[in-house]
Amino acid sequence: MIRFEERKELKTKPAKDAELGFGRIFTDYMILADYTPEEGWHDARIVPYGPLNYNPGAMIFHYGQSTFEGLKAYYIDEHTIHLFRPEKNFERMNNSNERLCIPKIDPKEFTEYIIEALKIEKDWIPKENGKSLYIRPMIVATDECLGVHASKTYQFVCMFCPVASYYKNGIEPVKIYVEHDYKRAVKGGTGFAKTAANYAQSLRSQEEAELAGYAQVLWLDAIERKYIEEVGSMNIMFVIDDTVVTPELNGSILPGITRASALELLRDKGYKVEERKISIDELIGAAKEGRLKEVFGTGTAAVISPVGEILYEGTHYVINDGKIGPVAQDIYDTITDTQYGRIEDKYNWVRKIRI
Ligand code: COI
Repeated sequence: MIRFEERKELKTKPAKDAELGFGRIFTDYMILADYTPEEGWHDARIVPYGPLNYNPGAMIFHYGQSTFEGLKAYYIDEHTIHLFRPEKNFERMNNSNERLCIPKIDPKEFTEYIIEALKIEKDWIPKENGKSLYIRPMIVATDECLGVHASKTYQFVCMFCPVASYYKNGIEPVKIYVEHDYKRAVKGGTGFAKTAANYAQSLRSQEEAELAGYAQVLWLDAIERKYIEEVGSMNIMFVIDDTVVTPELNGSILPGITRASALELLRDKGYKVEERKISIDELIGAAKEGRLKEVFGTGTAAVISPVGEILYEGTHYVINDGKIGPVAQDIYDTITDTQYGRIEDKYNWVRKIRI
């Protein structure tokens, strides 16, 4: 059971879906639940969205002990919304929790809390194609303690944002460059977990990329600086000749749910797919020989985002004339058609919710 604390006055909703952007508008409510060793996860509640009440000594501020997730709710009609593979998000959150010494949550129970909140927040779900309500669950360490240990108490917080595409130009290909100086993650570290630390340490590089006119950077492995890992907010796939190649999951790459879905779709559609190590030399070699046909990212926020240009060691490699390619378009269409209920949900990926 989740209790509900109604707000006195509802917020003003954006006048047009066109003004949404990504992650700047928050709905009327959020979900909270607390954890103590004695009570476990308890007191789940839907409360007005607003500031959280932690003391400066709370461990989240000092040692970054936190995990988060990202999923979306899609408007289908007045009585129906869809979630896309929500159980996968909570499965991944529990894997991240395990790494960060955070107590696990019950995926079924927390999915039900989200569904209850969505029923209340249904008028916030954008109706336009390509727009959705982004759902951001997170868990933060709340013990007041400056000693470096795992916290004993935690809070689960889930907020909701009506969103358009992650990149400002929608499905227009983005430019990225291969990062040379900074490193993202190393095997044995937290690269596979969705935790604030991975993103905090990427910000310097992200800022430099944006200043130089690039959307994000392409990370190489932190040890040899040889193998491709992922892009700032998405996994990455390459079409080389007639094969889709993507870096294998190796402990330092985020196991993306859109990545897994895209791979399953690609295989089912008959594309040749390889999950393996791919070196930057192999990629650039293929680009020089005209064999690099497409590059695209996959992610909940990014969906399927084509890459139109890669900068590496001072040379600009333009991919598919800077346009989205047929493979990316095919996968984008099938994934979004499934999410928005326009085609049969062959894989049982969609959780249909009556509202
Ligand atoms: C997502 O795709 O949901 C993410 O969490 C990526 C990013 C916005 C950090």
